[in-house]
Amino acid sequence: MKLSLYSDDLLHAPVDVIALGAFADAEGPTPTFAALDQSLDGALAQACKDEDFKGKPGQHVVFNLPPGRPARRVVVCGLGPGREYGLDATRSYAGCAARAAAKVGAQSMAIDVVPADGAPILGRVQALAEGVWLGSYRFDELRTRDVKPLSLQTVHVGLDAKAVAGLTGANLKSALERGEKVAEGVRLARDLTNLPPNVLHPVELADRARKVARSYDLGFKVLTPKEMERQNMHLHLGVGQGSRNEPRLIHLTYEPTGAGEDVPVLAFVGKGITFDAGGLSLKTGEGMVEMKIDMGGAAAVLGAMQAVAALKPRVRVHGIIGAAENMPDGNAIRPGDVIKSKKGITVEILNTDAEGRLVLADALAYAQELRPTHVVDLATLTGACMVALGRSRAAAYYEDGPMAQAFEAAWNRSEELFWRMPLSAELREVLKSEVADIKNIGDRWGGSITAALFLKEFVDEGMSWAHLDIAGPVFAQSEGPVGPKGGTGFGVRTLVELARELSGEVPGTEP
Ligand code: BES
Ligand code: MN
Ligand code: ZN
Repeated sequence: MKLSLYSDDLLHAPVDVIALGAFADAEGPTPTFAALDQSLDGALAQACKDEDFKGKPGQHVVFNLPPGRPARRVVVCGLGPGREYGLDATRSYAGCAARAAAKVGAQSMAIDVVPADGAPILGRVQALAEGVWLGSYRFDELRTRDVKPLSLQTVHVGLDAKAVAGLTGANLKSALERGEKVAEGVRLARDLTNLPPNVLHPVELADRARKVARSYDLGFKVLTPKEMERQNMHLHLGVGQGSRNEPRLIHLTYEPTGAGEDVPVLAFVGKGITFDAGGLSLKTGEGMVEMKIDMGGAAAVLGAMQAVAALKPRVRVHGIIGAAENMPDGNAIRPGDVIKSKKGITVEILNTDAEGRLVLADALAYAQELRPTHVVDLATLTGACMVALGRSRAAAYYEDGPMAQAFEAAWNRSEELFWRMPLSAELREVLKSEVADIKNIGDRWGGSITAALFLKEFVDEGMSWAHLDIAGPVFAQSEGPVGPKGGTGFGVRTLVELARELSGEVPGTEP
């Protein structure tokens, strides 16, 4: 699929589908919609009315143009209410258009950017490119039959002269390309999340990471159990020891060219449990069906590293993945075991299903030896997080200070669904162990918070750190405008924006 900017009149584009939008509230039809509708004597508005089209996000109407027009069809997509029309609405609009175009077998599409107050035009162009690529995503890697190649080949991104006043073509083109690179990272994360646990075990995850590193010129290192032993990563090794698939610690590095020693250094740390059976604290049959997604944090880290390598911000970035499979076995760790972490803290393991925090504790210790200025970990850590926030929103934990500032700026642009949660000091006592420095579970209450407090014990004093519990949003339960049911690649976009934020390349206000 090839995306390019289009500055001629969109309505004269010789394409299979013209995609345009309409708002759900008083803002009503966009100028492009109105112009086309007028040339059709109101037939487009009538068709929308007949279909009970209300301009809601995800809603769309396909309209066949009369013969003699340069384009064959029009897809009208709902933009939602005008006052809520931010970057995410733009992304969904583009995704919805791409999906609708593919459904009617279109090979070419011209899509109206629909600029509006509330977001800078360069951000809109980026979000639109992301939406087209994400909406077109499918996971076909394991199918041997009935695989239909994606019909959509060319996409023209239409901008009217008024919207681009004051912007250079180069600026617009790089915004478009930025969106494509970010989407490619998200798509990689989706693939990894969708892969079944017999295919994507820790060694395979390391191999796929190596391939990304090779193609994108990233530094790459993988620790085998022997090397992890030397590094005292006994918690991580412990989680993996019940599986025939060996654990791995995966480490990718992005080095900005020509940057000095004083650039910010980020570490992204991902939970990479390729399957979570719970270990000896075995999950129920129902509880483990979805557990191939337990490497969603690792997927986000790898996707973000790929996008960062393509975007080249002036920051140094480490991507660290703690990969293991959590299985019951004669050699598995037991409830009651006490294990010393890489950092030297002894941990009493009372539930082997609370394994993510064990792997992350050692991966965080490894990450901090790299002297980062900012550390972000991502993990499908707790079911409790989904009880608190639902299936589509993630929890974000961080203290006030430099991390809060940077993370919130990144979150603001990515518009991924997070909710800030408290690192409640009063809950710390539930992690006190009778026999060791700490135990790996609390009581029933505040399970996502106590998991975050456990991790905090392994973060050095004064470190700028954020913990993202992404258990819910890594997997979509149903199809939506920006993708099918399945892996979502959640987290990639916020990580990329964080790297851009700390590189200082994002101007406070764009024209
Ligand atoms: N990977 C799970 C959390 C999870 C559950 C993610 C459902 C996505 C969907 C994690 O390892 C886990 O099992 N957590 C336990 C912790 C408990 C034993 C303290 C949980 O949430 O039940
Ligand atoms: Mn578990
Ligand atoms: Zn888990």
